[in-house]
Amino acid sequence: MSDQSKSQKTLDKETYQQPDNSGHFGQFGGRYVAETLTSALQELEATYRELWRDSTFQADFDRDLAHFVGRPSPLYHAERLSEKLGGAQIYLKREDLNHTGAHKINHAVGQALLAKHMGKTRIIAETGAGQHGVATATVAARLGLECVVYMGAKDVERQALNVYRMKLLGATVIPVTSGSQTLKDAINEALRDWVARPEETFYILGTVCGPHPYPEMVRDFQSIIGREAKQQCQEMTGKLPDALVACVGGGSNAMGLFYEFIDDQDVKIYGVEAGGLGIESGEHAARMAGDRKGVFQGQRSFLMCDDDGQITESYSVSAGLDYPGVGPEHSYLREIGRAEYVYATDDEALAAFRNLTRMEGIMPALESSHALAYVEKLAPTLEKDQVIVVNLSGRGDKDIHTVAAIDGLALDGKSGLQG
Ligand SMILES: Cc1ncc(COP(=O)(O)O)c(C=O)c1O
Repeated sequence: MSDQSKSQKTLDKETYQQPDNSGHFGQFGGRYVAETLTSALQELEATYRELWRDSTFQADFDRDLAHFVGRPSPLYHAERLSEKLGGAQIYLKREDLNHTGAHKINHAVGQALLAKHMGKTRIIAETGAGQHGVATATVAARLGLECVVYMGAKDVERQALNVYRMKLLGATVIPVTSGSQTLKDAINEALRDWVARPEETFYILGTVCGPHPYPEMVRDFQSIIGREAKQQCQEMTGKLPDALVACVGGGSNAMGLFYEFIDDQDVKIYGVEAGGLGIESGEHAARMAGDRKGVFQGQRSFLMCDDDGQITESYSVSAGLDYPGVGPEHSYLREIGRAEYVYATDDEALAAFRNLTRMEGIMPALESSHALAYVEKLAPTLEKDQVIVVNLSGRGDKDIHTVAAIDGLALDGKSGLQG
């Protein structure tokens, strides 16, 4: 692939053309915001449209992906895991090996280039697991821009390592104590901040959610994952994968992998949501397991709400999947039957976390572990010559405290281990 064609290729999809000009994916998506944000979003959309087709911008983006992020990320054949599961061959798309440890840096780099072009002096972001916050603080440090990250107070606690990383990078982390004190509340605060100071501020949103053009723009910046995976899979196995699997929080790593394959009808697509303590318990974040749709945080999509339409609180052991909304393109892919959405519980994800760590020497993020948990179910149902590509969206270092606490251990800075 030539440098320029890498990003450009996404413009040339043959049959699948979404969203429409108003940012709708069928009945989903759109732009439902306060009037004060409309012009900021229009300015962002116009800049994005202009630059995404601009060869200088494409070259800058591709260069940053190569030299700052470290792309292409490898596609790794997990031979021992495949052998153990006794079915399809499992290939891991190693987004955990990117600079800062997850896929989030792909869209942070892209949005930072836009911010620079627009002359913005201040960057804001929301974060759940902290990976998007770290990625944003990283690109802001690189550009020498002020950076403010909103993070639910509950997530500040469970992702202490990433909070400190953001501070070291020079960002101000503001704990959000409203609502469930998780990702949705952090997004609310970031939107509030943006409404107050739209002129100088660029909001680097961390997933394929929110008002148009974010779902489309973040997807496009992440679509490098699928383009690389397609080429790598063909080189390594001589064919396209039989199935793709990725976890779905807001949905950015999943859309990044899926998008390139949407027109390849023989490739099955599975998005894995957080089943938490089980669907019946009500303690989960499996938005697609229900049938509720509505407008939330600037877009229309599937969501978790009560009979009156009030958003209900989600739950997951993994901060990055703990969100009651989902990106509108996932809702659309579900509706047209192109992708299937399943879930993995906390326990299943934790077991998959331990399995990959022990079998392959790779410690996955708890978010990615949900995708791996579904792979453990899917692989044995397929033949040995079939191929599953799973997106290993991030590395698990940030989750070691959470796993240790579940094991009844407390890690501390001095002795390393207590309990
Ligand atoms: C490693 C990792 N994977 C997945 C996610 C979920 O986000 P998304 O669904 O947008 O990929 C997060 C979010 O923080 C994350 O840190």
